[in-house]
Amino acid sequence: MRFGGKVAIVTGGASGIGAAFARRVHAEGGAVMVADLDVGRGQALAAELGERAAFRPVDVADPAAMETLAADTAAAFGGIDILYNNAGIGCYGLTPDLAIEQWRRVVAVNLDAVFYGCRAVIPHLKARGGGAIVNTASASGLHADYGFTAYNAAKAGVINYTRSLAIDHARDNIRANAVCPGPVDTPILTSGVDAIPGLRAEWEQVVPAGRFARPEEIAAVAAFLASDDASAVTGAAIPVDGGLTAHTGQPDLRARMEAAASQNV
Ligand SMILES: NC(=O)c1ccc[n+]([C@@H]2O[C@H](COP(=O)([O-])OP(=O)(O)OC[C@H]3O[C@@H](n4cnc5c(N)ncnc54)[C@H](O)[C@@H]3O)[C@@H](O)[C@H]2O)c1
Repeated sequence: MRFGGKVAIVTGGASGIGAAFARRVHAEGGAVMVADLDVGRGQALAAELGERAAFRPVDVADPAAMETLAADTAAAFGGIDILYNNAGIGCYGLTPDLAIEQWRRVVAVNLDAVFYGCRAVIPHLKARGGGAIVNTASASGLHADYGFTAYNAAKAGVINYTRSLAIDHARDNIRANAVCPGPVDTPILTSGVDAIPGLRAEWEQVVPAGRFARPEEIAAVAAFLASDDASAVTGAAIPVDGGLTAHTGQPDLRARMEAAASQNV
């Protein structure tokens, strides 16, 4: 029961990684405020969790809505101990083709919102004598993907902003860390990938582990970072990616080397 007596906000909490985090924190004794644009799924999750859970419809790119979310959460549960900034959107498009509004929306949801959330919640964390912030960045914030310009820029911003939060608020007893998932089996990825025949297999092939992660595998690391088990961890950006970012990107020589060796025998 690592989260007994703790109160957590999770954005993008209606689906995927955020929903898995909400379930985990709740199962370990915490109270959870699920925030998301998706009213149907958000309400359903809060109803499923029951006591110690609530849902608020929020667009994280709206700073006033994030202020209201923080105030509502503190009023509903008596304070805030954990903020998980997790809502995000993807975006394919090379620079010359990307509409300015697309760039702005991706940066607003993936990066600006993290600032809005922290700005609204840090005073509440201080009022409790400290707390934990976890931000969902991405492997795509550590390195670049072909055609994911705005997403790469926003997620890289999340990582360095997390470091800035960590050093600025360490003496407030507030820790800030980022998780950097590789491909995860959730709608943000699979809705596009599964529409293109063969793409899932091709994509899984470039992950050393040979598969997409499950949302629960990312949520487990986020929950660790949000918990007192990580009491000395702050400013970290932890890849949770099946080895994706351990790889230089050079070709896998093993089959060719084995074939060459067998021809020489
Ligand atoms: N799935 C992956 O492969 C992957 C990889 C790396 C990072 N991520 C990141 O993980 C985070 C969670 O995504 P997921 O994989 O669970 O996908 P998901 O699609 O299952 O969940 C994303 C949730 O965010 C919500 N959301 C989107 N825009 C919002 C907004 N403006 N305000 C409030 N809620 C909003 C959606 O309604 C949805 O419920 C995102 O930040 C994403 O960029 C995902």
